[in-house]
Amino acid sequence: MNEFMQRYQELGEEFDSSKIKLRSSFRVNTLKITDEELLKRLNLQAEKISFLDNAYFYESDFSISSTPEYLMGYVYSQEAASQLPPQILKPKEEEKVLDMCASPGSKTTQMASMMNNKGVIVSLESNNLRIPKLQNNLERCGVTNCIVIKKDARFADDLKMEFDKVLLDAPCSGNFSIDKEWFNKRKLSDLKAISKTQKKLLDCAYHVLKKEGVLVYSTCSLEPEENELNIEWILKRYSDLKLEEIKLEIGDQGLTNIFGEEINPEIKKCLRIWPHKTGLQGFFVAKLKKQ
Ligand SMILES: C[S@@+](CC[C@H](N)C(=O)[O-])C[C@H]1O[C@@H](n2cnc3c(N)ncnc32)[C@H](O)[C@@H]1O
Repeated sequence: MNEFMQRYQELGEEFDSSKIKLRSSFRVNTLKITDEELLKRLNLQAEKISFLDNAYFYESDFSISSTPEYLMGYVYSQEAASQLPPQILKPKEEEKVLDMCASPGSKTTQMASMMNNKGVIVSLESNNLRIPKLQNNLERCGVTNCIVIKKDARFADDLKMEFDKVLLDAPCSGNFSIDKEWFNKRKLSDLKAISKTQKKLLDCAYHVLKKEGVLVYSTCSLEPEENELNIEWILKRYSDLKLEEIKLEIGDQGLTNIFGEEINPEIKKCLRIWPHKTGLQGFFVAKLKKQ
């Protein structure tokens, strides 16, 4: 058994990773079309996802991104777990929102749709090569309330702006359910550097958040060092930052016993998505409010 599977077992999860099958899903871009109109046009087997707005599981022998509806920006091919952070952040029309790590823009476009193209979204991305993909998706989806800035979000406070809502969908180690080679590519020793960057990003997120503002932190990693332990760290650092409970019909609570060590019991308010229990890719989400 590889070192990661061994750890999942220690965290209480036993499964055969080769047997996991993820469900395909898409999101309706309500800036351009209604659910009814899109479903009529696509004419495929779709099932409404009960814990998300305007999102569907589907089965088809063609790819959604090869359809004219995709090119017209009516639909966004987006894994269901990846739609959870904006759904939990709930950005509103009048708000100023920061998307700290934005490309390719799944969550920026989702938030623009939730905000009806009102308010403002500032989307940061540090990798030059990933900016065009973000811009293309914004254009395809008809997003007009977003400013894209090429910037390292660890220094987002240089912008001298404060935000009502901040989404930190952090760069992470990923997980085996979205990359079949993941176990061969990743080593436990990678986690140290990744979690260090994530802590720097979290720290900056705190500083650009208004009082009473809400921060959603997410990763598509299953490793506690990138998730529960980072949240425990930021809670210890800033006493005016409080976790809010995420109540959903899917997923598990955050882990509070990590490899035999008890951590802050508040962490159970977070959301952990295990692929073998949900048919969704691995994900972690925490919702924090600045008092
Ligand atoms: C998990 S992906 C984000 C996915 C995106 N939120 C979405 O839903 O489409 C992380 C992104 O963060 C970018 N990134 C990595 N380090 C960064 C940093 N320090 N500042 C800003 N962006 C960063 C990566 O280039 C990558 O595009």
